[in-house]
Amino acid sequence: MSNREKIVIRGGKVVNEDFSERADVYVEDGIIRAVGLDLEVPAGTREIDARGKLVLPGGIDTHTHMELQFMGTVTVDDFKTGTEAAVAGGTTMILDFVIPQKGASLLEAYEKWRNTADPKVCCDYSLHVAVTWWDDRVKKEMETLVQEKGVNSFKMFMAYKDVFMLRDQELYAVFSHCKEIGAIAQVHAENGDLIAEGAKRMLSLGITGPEGHELCRPEDVEAEATQRAITIAHSVNCPLYVVHVMSKSAAKVVANARRNGRVVFGEPIAAGLGTDGTHYWNKDWAHAAGFVMGPPLRPDPSTPDYLMDLLANDDLTVTGTDNCTFSVCQKALGKDDFTRIPNGVNGVEDRMSVIWEKGVHSGKMDENRFVAVTSSNAAKIFNLFPQKGRIAMGSDADLVIWDPNATRMISVKTHHQAVDYNIFEGMVCHGVPLVTISGGRVVYEGGRVLAEPGTGRFIPRKPYAEFVYKRIHQREQVGKPSAVVRKPYDGEVISLASNGS
Ligand code: URP
Ligand code: ZN
Ligand code: ZN
Repeated sequence: MSNREKIVIRGGKVVNEDFSERADVYVEDGIIRAVGLDLEVPAGTREIDARGKLVLPGGIDTHTHMELQFMGTVTVDDFKTGTEAAVAGGTTMILDFVIPQKGASLLEAYEKWRNTADPKVCCDYSLHVAVTWWDDRVKKEMETLVQEKGVNSFKMFMAYKDVFMLRDQELYAVFSHCKEIGAIAQVHAENGDLIAEGAKRMLSLGITGPEGHELCRPEDVEAEATQRAITIAHSVNCPLYVVHVMSKSAAKVVANARRNGRVVFGEPIAAGLGTDGTHYWNKDWAHAAGFVMGPPLRPDPSTPDYLMDLLANDDLTVTGTDNCTFSVCQKALGKDDFTRIPNGVNGVEDRMSVIWEKGVHSGKMDENRFVAVTSSNAAKIFNLFPQKGRIAMGSDADLVIWDPNATRMISVKTHHQAVDYNIFEGMVCHGVPLVTISGGRVVYEGGRVLAEPGTGRFIPRKPYAEFVYKRIHQREQVGKPSAVVRKPYDGEVISLASNGS
């Protein structure tokens, strides 16, 4: 059982997104009370030696689906195993998605997610809500969610035709409303119509295996939708967050838009940064199916490095995992038809190590950028900063003691997730969490998860995150189109025939 105790972490290198310093960190009642050299602490305080190690803000996973009912089954990792795995990997907060069925109440779905998650979570969490249909009731419920329920982000699907997909006109309406209520619009950017046609074509060609999943939705399908979402969001001055950016083409679209001044953020995920879509062509069906997710991993093997480069230089901003795990027997629902393979992969446990290995150990980014893309930027975008994402007096005591030199091999044999395979199987990563502290409790230490289900909290988020909305507000003030003042035209006007032709 992990208790909330007085803790001092001694002698580590404290890493924030903007600088690193050698300092002790003192924690009491779940809050960081002091950061400094040779801190004096009350008698009875637990001392943790962090000499030679880094002390990082706990990771924030911006994108998970625990216990999600999807494609006829339910993800095998629930809020308990999912958050146990999170803390074992150095992540101390997840943002999960409420996904109501078309026609269903957003508020009822939100309450269902809260009731499911609250008793099980081993670390703090918050909720995005998906808008899967549109009318005045949805509009009103979005307002209630923002004003009373701590939600400031809404995800819209441009894929999953007839299930979750919204059309452009609906996207326009939802983005406009997000802007009005101070929320951030998130999109799953893939052209659902093209996917539906592509899937029919692959099946008609006799391609029923997992490779069909990528072949029916190539990079263009993702890039086109990404550009379309950015165009629609910009037309209503709404900030946009593109979830799971999986391809070089889509990443370039996001990068270009940012360079053209659009308020858009791109989220690559651990899977896309750590592995690739060549696995869909593996001869072992179960192996190949294990990587099926939407948008798919890309067969171009230079994709992970490319996404990491863009993440390092701020073309992409923040990382999640889209952790949405189905065991092999669940994936087998699609053994004869790739369109029936439940979409989703693991990542919540391994994100921090994969990004350290491929990002920091490789020399693409430094430790401070690592903190930015695994924690601080998420806290800023979703209005949690500096409560989360920072090691400073007054911030939540969500911390990881990180050994940058140790290595671990990722394996289903040792992971804490319920899923029965791991897409990163065999990958050796530098960067190992030694101790994870969540809300002032030691929740992971010595390779053991100590967290108690239900000790994590739901963290409400306010609208109008400054990091996102300062520019939006200013543009609203100065960017309003205005009519040209001119003398009325008083010349001749032709007459139209009465039938208008
Ligand atoms: O394959 C995926 N991504 N599964 C989860 C649902 C989603 O689109 O995020
Ligand atoms: Zn999605
Ligand atoms: Zn997702």
